[in-house]
Formats: sequence, C-alpha cells, structure tokens
Amino acid sequence: MMFSTSFFVTIVYALMISGAESTHDFQKDHSKSTFTYDQLWNLEKTFWDAFLYPANKIQIQGNASTIFASDVQGRVDITRTFDGDELNREYIFGLFADPTAVSLVGIPIDYSITQFSANDNIASATTVVTFNATTFGVTIPVTIDTWMEFDKDGKIAQYDAVFRWFDYLLNYLLESTATKYNTTSAGAVSIVTDILAKDICKTHDEYCTGDNQQYPTDGISCYDYLTQKIRFGQSYELGRNTLLCREVHDHMVQYRPDVHCAHIGPTGGGYCVDDMSYTQTVLQRYFNDSWIPFGYGQKQDVWLTN
Ligand SMILES: *[C@@H]1O[C@H](CO)[C@@H](O)[C@H](O)[C@H]1NC(C)=O
Ligand SMILES: *[C@@H]1O[C@H](CO)[C@@H](O)[C@H](O)[C@H]1NC(C)=O
Ligand SMILES: *[C@@H]1O[C@H](CO)[C@@H](O)[C@H](O)[C@H]1NC(C)=O
Ligand SMILES: *[C@@H]1O[C@H](CO)[C@@H](O)[C@H](O)[C@H]1NC(C)=O
Repeated sequence: MMFSTSFFVTIVYALMISGAESTHDFQKDHSKSTFTYDQLWNLEKTFWDAFLYPANKIQIQGNASTIFASDVQGRVDITRTFDGDELNREYIFGLFADPTAVSLVGIPIDYSITQFSANDNIASATTVVTFNATTFGVTIPVTIDTWMEFDKDGKIAQYDAVFRWFDYLLNYLLESTATKYNTTSAGAVSIVTDILAKDICKTHDEYCTGDNQQYPTDGISCYDYLTQKIRFGQSYELGRNTLLCREVHDHMVQYRPDVHCAHIGPTGGGYCVDDMSYTQTVLQRYFNDSWIPFGYGQKQDVWLTN
C-alpha cells in the first residue's frame, strides 16, 4: 500500500467536513419533519379513497377542495402539466366519474398501494388501481406511480404521476377490441377512432354553442376533422394534437364549456397541441418546490423553476 491508513482516514474526514459545510446552508434539520411517516401514509390513502368511484363525484362539486391546494401544480407523463385546484379536480376526479361515458379506462373501483416511501412532506408511491373499463367491457389494473407533496394543511401542493406500462395498456385495449369485433389491430384503431370521434362530436354539439363553438354544426366537419385531420395518438400523446388528447378533454367540457371546448376543437386550446419536443418535455422546468426532502440537491435539479 502506498498510503497509510491514517492518511486515508484524514482525507475522507476532510471531504466529509467540506461536504457538510457546502450543504449546511439550505438543508433542514432531519429531526424536524413536517409530517410523520404515519401521517403521510394516511394522506396518501385519503387521496386514493377520494379517487375511487363514486367518492370522486363529490370532489367535482363545490368550490373549496379538501384534496388540492388552490395553487396546486400537477404533471401526468402521458398528458402534460395542470395548474390550480379547479382544473385538477376536473382532470383527476371528473375524468373518471361517469360509468356511462365513453372512455379508455372507465371508473376506478379499487386500489392497492404496492410501494410507499415518505419523508418530510413528500410521499412516493406505486398504486395498482382497478378500473372498470365500461366502454370495453373489461376490468383492468392500471399502475400509477406518484409523487405527492403536501402543504401544511395536508393538501396536495404538487403531484407528479406516471402511468406505468401505459403503452402495454393501450395495446391491450386495442387487442381486446380486435378480438371483440373479429378484426385486425388496424381495424381496432378504426373502430375506436369512430367511437371516440362520434362521442366528442356529440359533446361538442351539446355543450359548445355560441362563442364556444369549435366546428360547423353540419354533422360532418367535426367527425371529419377528428378522424381524418389529426393523429389517433400514441401512448405518450394524450397531451398533444391527437384524437386521444381530445378524448381526455371530452370529459371535462360539461363542467366548464368556456374553458374546455377549445381543447376538443381544431386548435387544441393550448392543451392538445404539439408545442413541446421530447427534450423540452423531459427538461421542462415546471415545479416550484423540490421533490427531494429536507432541501437536498436543489442546485443540481433541472426540474425546478428556480
Ligand atoms: C363557487 O364558484 C362559482 C363559479 O365557479 C362562483 O360563481 C361562486 O361564487 C363560488 N361560490 C363561493 C361560495 O365561493
Ligand atoms: C411558481 O412560481 C412562479 C414563478 O415564480 C409563480 O408565478 C407561480 O405563482 C408559482 N406557483 C406556485 C404554485 O407557487
Ligand atoms: C362494471 O360496470 C358495469 C356497467 O356499469 C357493471 O355492470 C359491472 O358490474 C361493473 N363491474 C365491476 C367489477 O364493478
Ligand atoms: C373472423 O374473421 C375471419 C376473417 O375475416 C373469418 O374467416 C371468421 O369466420 C370470423 N370469425 C367469426 C367468429 O366471425
């Protein structure tokens, strides 16, 4: 050995000291956690209990959310980012609250949390949610990985959700359709395209009237646009210029036509648009608060606004 053990220990010790000094300024005391592990587990369960049908119907009514902070910031990997309580309640709860609606996954009827780790005011979990996909006549497990940050009142200040195996799920739904109609994968896409386009145009004609009208009500333009002029959409394109994106927003139109009609229209209203590249999506500086507890690692975090 070239160096004595004591020399090596001195070097390591010096590195530890300098490391501690350089991070001391912005790290909080670990013993002063905002919430206990038990409290964070209960907050996580509270969210998922509220997510299930029919409890989710309550979340769309009234003005003050018991789940989301008024200025909540949210992101879903297969769609995009969503700001504010009202919008998030419409997306997170309103999207899955009607068993009779034409929809990809239907209504959530059960859940199982399979992974959970939490610290300070942040919880990371994997939840397998059972959906009753009434449109397709199947129940399907959907795996949702979530990060949630809670404010002092226990409301969600930020969330980041990832639909694990969503590509596989979409293919499964199309294969189920192919089997049901005795057709090919391409045939299944045509069938689902037809079902979704008809449903979106029905929503448009019912709710998007006057200033909110997006298509001529000639019984052709809307269907033609949705089936011929835009893509069906890939599994990561539920927030891009696709039919699948307009399917997502279709469910929200009833709550606030003035806000949501544009999203199912030709312009996409800033939500169903091809505005970001792959790299911009991955490197988007969106979150105001760090996802790393106790203030660790902030200077190197490319997802923080500042
Ligand atoms: C609830 O929201 C509606 C419209 O979103 C508004 O007109 C009404 O004043 C609000 N009520 C309260 C009590 O804030
Ligand atoms: C996040 O930061 C931006 C820019 O500083 C600010 O405009 C916005 O209100 C903040 N949002 C929240 C939820 O704190
Ligand atoms: C799924 O929904 C359908 C239609 O509402 C219902 O008949 C069926 O019992 C539901 N399945 C489950 C497992 O809840
Ligand atoms: C399914 O389609 C194939 C080819 O179009 C046909 O030969 C077959 O008889 C069909 N099966 C059923 C059950 O309709």
